[in-house]
Amino acid sequence: MKFVLASQNKHKLVEMQAILSAHGVEVVLQSDLGLRVDVEETGETFAENAMLKAQAVMKASGLPAIADDSGVCVDALNGAPGVYSARYGGPDLDDTGRYRLLLENMRGQMTRAAKFVSVITCCFPNGDVLTARGECPGAIAYAPMGEGGFGYDPVFFVPELKKTFAQLTADEKNAISHRGKSLREFYEKLKEYLNAHK
Ligand code: IMP
Repeated sequence: MKFVLASQNKHKLVEMQAILSAHGVEVVLQSDLGLRVDVEETGETFAENAMLKAQAVMKASGLPAIADDSGVCVDALNGAPGVYSARYGGPDLDDTGRYRLLLENMRGQMTRAAKFVSVITCCFPNGDVLTARGECPGAIAYAPMGEGGFGYDPVFFVPELKKTFAQLTADEKNAISHRGKSLREFYEKLKEYLNAHK
């Protein structure tokens, strides 16, 4: 069975493909199908937004569609930026502008605890839905460190490794990240689902 990834974010796609393809799940990109479905993320939770994206791409492609909705939730900011992570500070900011704004909003704050959250939703054309969730606890660094990854990676510090996500290799990040966890849980659910529907 072929699955289409419902994302335009190239970095996320690479992470999703690395894990799903390694497990033998055949995934194609929307662009492989000549599609580009832009979905307004009007949900108030990661789960709602993942469902909106997966459903729209499933309908447009006629294939089962897999979406990730994710973001960073900071304790001292009452869970912000959360579902608004991609839009934090408005449309004029890029990744660097957004993590700088986060550092600014955390200035003088001693409580640095945060977590990354990822919800994976897969919508099948027959109406079936599979979902999985992954979280990765960490802390907001005092300054950016590292060149890898994307988004808030340079300011997301993993205390056990004494490194930010941006200082990890792709494999090291996938092994512990919110998306690595949600994708591996999703794969287990998908295996069960496909076995039950042979
Ligand atoms: P989404 O595409 O609407 O799910 O937005 C997710 C946003 O959360 C991204 O644009 C990033 O800013 C942030 N984000 C999610 N996952 C990661 C990650 O693994 N590293 C860094 N930032 C992330």
